[in-house]
Amino acid sequence: MKLGSLTVKNKFLLAPMDMYADSAFRKLCHDYNCGYSCTELIATAGFIRKNESFRRKVDLHVKGGLQFVTNSTSELKESIRIVNEKEFYAGLGNVNCIDINLGCPSLKMMNQNMGSALLNQPKLVRSLFKVMKKHSSLSVSAKIRLAINSKHKKQSKPYLKIAQIAKEEGIDFIIVHGRTAGQMYSGEVDVEAIKELSEKVDIPLVGNGNIIDEESCNNFEFCDAVMIGREALKRPFIFSLLQGKKFDDEKEKKKCVKQYLKYAKELDTGFQHIKIHTQAFLRGIEGSKEIIRALTHTKTLEDIKECLKQL
Ligand SMILES: Cc1cc2nc3c(=O)[nH]c(=O)nc-3n(C[C@H](O)[C@H](O)[C@H](O)COP(=O)(O)O)c2cc1C
Repeated sequence: MKLGSLTVKNKFLLAPMDMYADSAFRKLCHDYNCGYSCTELIATAGFIRKNESFRRKVDLHVKGGLQFVTNSTSELKESIRIVNEKEFYAGLGNVNCIDINLGCPSLKMMNQNMGSALLNQPKLVRSLFKVMKKHSSLSVSAKIRLAINSKHKKQSKPYLKIAQIAKEEGIDFIIVHGRTAGQMYSGEVDVEAIKELSEKVDIPLVGNGNIIDEESCNNFEFCDAVMIGREALKRPFIFSLLQGKKFDDEKEKKKCVKQYLKYAKELDTGFQHIKIHTQAFLRGIEGSKEIIRALTHTKTLEDIKECLKQL
């Protein structure tokens, strides 16, 4: 299916997640028929600097989107040039979409005037969209939240404004997490606001927020696609589940641990990623609390394997 110019396998997409969107995890989700995935947010300033330490962060072994976080048109332009020229970072040939993060709620980002902080700066957002469209031949998308806080949402409805600008500037699709930055990751997801956006702005739309099963997914039926974050960390097979496949949860989670470790070894995934993913997969498995706790103290892959022997 298509989201603007981007072809995705199906409408069930994996959300970008800082520290969790490594290629091994993305590969695992694609095994379970995830339609599209994206890197975690990558700061343009660091991307341009091309530090050795950034090579690992920019983990592009799996085909999909590359998400930038920035407030600088010149940095964004230079970052896109690096992508176009396939400079320095391995796997840039796998990038099929450039996304811009307009939703990160962390104070660290917002204090630097990035992420959700841009939701009340429509002029700057328009300039950033223009750069993406002009300099990239790949598909381009934006991931937003509804607003900075509830007052901003009610008074200004920035989600409508940003979506309208995205449409006018030729952005292929937008992804909307139905919360304000102030809500961080909890509290009600305002599906009605996303619905309002779908009725008022004609742009391919991906709905996001608390999709954990078929019922919660059905709330987003009016969207062209849905994006799933935290549930995929616990159950990477959520994509297949939503497409009608049945699983024994516990058995499948154990399979995920094994398969993830195999991919992580193949793709040279960083140890911290391996540790936190393993812990996330184990949540919900009977008797796993002790193992999860023990994993916290591991320092090597061998330590992790030793802990998992108790599974
Ligand atoms: C640990 C974590 C890291 C995240 N990192 C990013 C990120 O790098 N870029 C981004 O656009 N959103 C990020 N998000 C937000 C998710 O993409 C998603 O919008 C949010 O978790 C809501 O979806 P969910 O309820 O399915 O998890 C992150 C969320 C979590 C929990």
